[in-house]
Amino acid sequence: MGLRAESAEPGEERVTTADTFREVYGTGPEGVWAAPGRVNLIGEHTDYNDGFVMPFALPHTTVAAVSRRTDGRLRLHSANVDGGTVELFLDELSADDPAEGWAAYPAGVLWVLREAGHVITGADIHFESTVPTGAGLSSSAALEVVTALAMNDLYGLGLEPWRLARLCQRAENVYVGAPTGIMDQTASACCTAGHALHLDTRDLSQRQIPFDLAAQGLRLLVVDTRVKHSHSEGEYGKRRAGCEAAAAALEVDALRDVPYEGLDTTLERLDDEELVRLARHVVTEDHRVEQVVRLAEDGDFRAIGPVLTAGHASLRDDFRVSCPELDLVVSAANDSGALGSRMTGGGFGGSAIVLVEDAAADKVTDAVIAAFATAGFVPPRVFSAVPSEGARRLA
Ligand code: GLA
Repeated sequence: MGLRAESAEPGEERVTTADTFREVYGTGPEGVWAAPGRVNLIGEHTDYNDGFVMPFALPHTTVAAVSRRTDGRLRLHSANVDGGTVELFLDELSADDPAEGWAAYPAGVLWVLREAGHVITGADIHFESTVPTGAGLSSSAALEVVTALAMNDLYGLGLEPWRLARLCQRAENVYVGAPTGIMDQTASACCTAGHALHLDTRDLSQRQIPFDLAAQGLRLLVVDTRVKHSHSEGEYGKRRAGCEAAAAALEVDALRDVPYEGLDTTLERLDDEELVRLARHVVTEDHRVEQVVRLAEDGDFRAIGPVLTAGHASLRDDFRVSCPELDLVVSAANDSGALGSRMTGGGFGGSAIVLVEDAAADKVTDAVIAAFATAGFVPPRVFSAVPSEGARRLA
């Protein structure tokens, strides 16, 4: 997947990236770009059903120092990965034989841009990342988006952020071979500081929803369970196929088109219990996104908590993408005074989010850590997430 994240804390990376580029490639970079990871507040497994999502950008970024080349070579180096510089030839990039490991993400972006007809003659790139990998926080999207943005600027491609996100999704789907939706790349490319992004994944129309929890005396904790269950990728594909089968059986283009009103009656038309559960999750989750948007716009942030918890129950019982570690975060956090919590991202491990009063944050964190110790799980990593800036040029 993406990069290891131990090299720097958020914010520190800007200082070192250009210097390290110089050490690796012998001259300074033409520019430095950053793209963040994300958490998703609500709207899980809705993006490949043409539905709604509401992510925000993390302060954790992948930073890329980049220069153009004219000889058709792509050289990739990362501070987060041992093993030196990966060297590829643009003419040889092929979705039938993708680059190995982390290099597949930036290579896939170069592949997709050239496939779309853009003239790119090569690049030297040095990456540094603070986005935790394997934590469901979109380290892969950050790596793709920072590469795409740098190419867009350096080669004057004139592509808007949402267009870059679409291309990055295609790189991930077709070149890397992971059947993901559009949420992560759009969040990384389009989020703005202080806002959550209300995104319609059908037409990519977006609204920036002010989301200043600190001003409300609230905090959103991210709990990285540090587990990633190995079957996650196959299970993701199965859920996606199941949703498509449910939509076909209900004779709609996508589950987003099934109305929330009268859902139980509509679902009686499905004779497969698994399809009923998948469809019920997606339709109720789209409804929860609407609820959270309305609550945020009304300034009723505390009332978002129970909606998050209801979303978790739906992901656990209907969509079945949770795991014991994520369920334990939710029960331990809610039992110790959190306003609400849920898994975030694809599931089967990764991270959960917890909405808490500022004053309760330490107590809830301690309770989650203690519950993990009692269960014999690996200690989780907990941090507060502030809605941060999307992808941008730093220098
Ligand atoms: C992963 C995918 C996204 C989305 C989420 C689940 O993060 O990359 O496209 O489907 O899972 O909401």
